[in-house]
Amino acid sequence: MKWIHFSDPHAGGAAEDWMAYFDKRWVGAFNYRFRRRFQHDLGLLEKAVRYTLDNPPDLVVCTGDLTSTGQPGEFRQSLDIMRPLTEAGIPMLYVPGNHDCYVKRRKCIDAVNRAVHVLCDYELKDLPLVRHIGGIDFILVHESRPTNLISSCGYLTRAASDFVVDYCNSPKNCPRVIVGHYPLIEEHPLWRIRHRLWGQKQVVELLERKVIDVSLCGHIHRPFAKADADGRGEYSAGSVTRNGTMAEMEYLADRDVFIRRRIDLH
Ligand SMILES: [Fe+2]
Ligand SMILES: [Fe+2]
Repeated sequence: MKWIHFSDPHAGGAAEDWMAYFDKRWVGAFNYRFRRRFQHDLGLLEKAVRYTLDNPPDLVVCTGDLTSTGQPGEFRQSLDIMRPLTEAGIPMLYVPGNHDCYVKRRKCIDAVNRAVHVLCDYELKDLPLVRHIGGIDFILVHESRPTNLISSCGYLTRAASDFVVDYCNSPKNCPRVIVGHYPLIEEHPLWRIRHRLWGQKQVVELLERKVIDVSLCGHIHRPFAKADADGRGEYSAGSVTRNGTMAEMEYLADRDVFIRRRIDLH
């Protein structure tokens, strides 16, 4: 069982309608215009797609932030590049990031719902859910909601956390991988108070007790691996368009270990 994990391509552009100047999108559009567009290269997302088609995995995992401000045109940019993956019939798990759920505007909500519909065989409203693929249970959680102007925080709702706990109380007959946008393990909760995940406590405990084997996340734009010798722990793919990184991961059932190989797309 092999999968490819990438995250945070952050397609971006200008405000797509005048109402953007009255909601949080002006912050994101400003940020994109003067900072993000010099940092993120969508050509690297194209490279990621090409690599994936040349080395087809059993599954692709994308942990969010396809866009910068969640506008339909930004989703279109990322989805157009990713289309060959869906056309090749490679199953995909995508959970939206905070930038994909930037504001409450109807057209932006429709755009993120459509992205999940196009990429995956489930709908955004179905999350949290568990997908059994290649002998592994993937637990998908949706932590991203529109927030105020200065916050990039995520929230694991009580209902979502209870869902994960209830599921983990059932007999374990295969490895469990949780897929979310935010890292569950936060080493700098105070320093990163504007960027952290809330409501994750119970789930972190399950990860630490290895009731859940692996956590896959994005949001942090640099890749990391906080794992034990058997590969159990948490992995950030890093931003594919900023660092040109993604990961190829494999579960070796005979040895009961997870192997992760970092792929440099530069
Ligand atoms: Fe991001
Ligand atoms: Fe994010």
